[in-house]
Amino acid sequence: MKYTKDYRLGFTGKAQHILDQLTLEEKVHLMSGRMSLEQEMRNQQEDPDNLHYNYVPYPAGGIERLGVPELRFCDGPRGVVCSRGKSTCFPVPMLRGASFDVELEEKIGRAIASEILAYGGNYFGGVCINLPYNPGWGRSQETYGEESFLLGKMGAALVRGVQSGGVIACIKHYAFNQMENARFKVNVTCDKRTEREVYLPHFKDCIDAGAASVMSSYNKYQGAYCGHNAYLLNDVLKGEWGFDGFVISDFYWGVKDTVEAANGGQNIEMAHTRFFGEKLLDAAKSGLVSENTINDAALRIIRTLLAFDNTKTGNADPSVLACPEHIDLALQSARKGITLLQNKNHVLPFERDKIQRILVLGELGRLEPIGDHGSSWVRPPYVISPMQGIRMAAPYAEVTFDDGKDLERAKALAERADAVVMVLGYDHNDEGEFVSAEAAEGYTGSMGGDRRRSLGLHKPDIALIQALGPCNAKTAVVLIGGNTIMISEWKDEVSAILMAYYPGMEGGRALGEILFGAINPSGKLPFVLPENERDLPQVDWDADEQFYDYYHGYTRLDNAGIQPLLPFGFGLSYTRFAFSDAEFGGDDEGITATCTVTNSGEREGAEVVQMYVGFKNSALDRPVRVLGAFDRVSLKPGESHRITLQCPLEKLRYFDEKSGTMKLEHIPHEVFIGNACSDAHLLAGSVDL
Ligand code: BGC
Repeated sequence: MKYTKDYRLGFTGKAQHILDQLTLEEKVHLMSGRMSLEQEMRNQQEDPDNLHYNYVPYPAGGIERLGVPELRFCDGPRGVVCSRGKSTCFPVPMLRGASFDVELEEKIGRAIASEILAYGGNYFGGVCINLPYNPGWGRSQETYGEESFLLGKMGAALVRGVQSGGVIACIKHYAFNQMENARFKVNVTCDKRTEREVYLPHFKDCIDAGAASVMSSYNKYQGAYCGHNAYLLNDVLKGEWGFDGFVISDFYWGVKDTVEAANGGQNIEMAHTRFFGEKLLDAAKSGLVSENTINDAALRIIRTLLAFDNTKTGNADPSVLACPEHIDLALQSARKGITLLQNKNHVLPFERDKIQRILVLGELGRLEPIGDHGSSWVRPPYVISPMQGIRMAAPYAEVTFDDGKDLERAKALAERADAVVMVLGYDHNDEGEFVSAEAAEGYTGSMGGDRRRSLGLHKPDIALIQALGPCNAKTAVVLIGGNTIMISEWKDEVSAILMAYYPGMEGGRALGEILFGAINPSGKLPFVLPENERDLPQVDWDADEQFYDYYHGYTRLDNAGIQPLLPFGFGLSYTRFAFSDAEFGGDDEGITATCTVTNSGEREGAEVVQMYVGFKNSALDRPVRVLGAFDRVSLKPGESHRITLQCPLEKLRYFDEKSGTMKLEHIPHEVFIGNACSDAHLLAGSVDL
């Protein structure tokens, strides 16, 4: 297949031939970005057409005389950032993670690739697979959940989709980039098992899936900036994992020292040159950076660009931008990811014939909840707000909006409504990429950052729920946000709770369809929802030093014997699914779990069947269980399907510190199959390996 690692390696000879003809200056030029932030901010102020950050692909390298194309960077991940109001805005990856839909993610990747080609780009910087140590991480929305296995599957699918569409995929931010405000300074440490079993496997999965590029992160790991980190870049990525592509720095501040970065395995300083360029040339001339190191970087860059060369194919087709097919993918994704967390007395779906007056409460109800205003901000031609989506789903009904600020007024409205939908949560000021107040002026206009105060709703939102929930039995809360939002304090005051994440340009439509039953919800939480946020690892968001424990999220609660409020993988449906006749087996390839899934309710629906593997019999300290496989299945009422899931042996190994290798334990492994990560939702067995 085109664009795979083998295909790319086929260009080595040609790339070497070009390399042999390059001067040292030209090689260094390939390693140097050309877009300065200062220049860009000036551009934006002076030219009204330069509407926003990354409004055009950012160039680096390129040698015209020898036919080496420029690298032309477009950011993501919720679509293509170079949008100027034209790109498809997909739901954020956290929602896409909640869909557990690998095929759909691959299709989204192909759609993104075609839009990048339409902008004249060839490089997608939007495969974000960082694993939030604590869900307060401000950029959580850009990743797929708290689970390494899920991140690996979804990230690999996006890589395959983007690259099969002829665009280079860049996975980021390598590695340990899970704190926003402190990202430029924090030094993350952890032990080797945590590194190899929790924080690196999903990066390896994406490399194994053929990712041709990696972005290093700003933070330090074990004392060295990740953009200079010889251990992460040279030893692990390029050495152990056999990565053939090139590394870029995170933008503007990701390289701090010419010699350390180049020798540490950094290949391109993005987006403009501060420490490479002339300084790298001098370092190479004086022998502080060897010519071999420069040659290795240049070869990687040339080879990849030749393999993805689209300069002659002329496939820049602007009609693909936010075309009906791509918008439909955004809609399907929102339909599949929005997660029903609570539905007391089956209050949802609202019955069309009984609901004439609907009250929508909360400012977010009439806004455009597509996510933060940082580097991932995609501008689509339109966004359907929750309020509009509700109107579309119930065109016959009277839909009233109130911001909910005056509790007495809101109460009176709620009492006379047939149903109440409160749209509450966060926006780009509450969470997202953090930029200083100064940079925010010209850059994004928002502060974003980590959720430093709490993982709960804002106090006025909680007061609104507590005051109004009891006024109307048909009340649903729709949560907007990028990761865990605590519900324990107020969940009993309302009947239904939906987690909508940031559902993209078609999110409002999907929400309306789900509220009124045209679509049966099938999203599953890609994170655990604890009763108490103190049960999650605590992070000092301003820290200079942060240790990551082996356990986080659901593995941490399981290990401490704490029941979550809602387990990882949990999500309700308007129908019921029964699991029966489980069988478990193992062979040289992995462990399998088979069971029959039956739709025992009255509606068609989709279920995410999940397999977990448990390590109770381990001689080591290992998680109670971890996700090992999953699949989505769609069933009509009364229909059954026999489903087999397989967890590959590779995912069962632990890191043996003595030998420095991943090893399998020859013990009885517990195996589980069902629809959420808790005993109550799983059938259990055991397999000897
Ligand atoms: C972000 C990256 C992004 C880059 C370019 C940085 O500030 O951390 O995720 O790709 O900007 O937009």
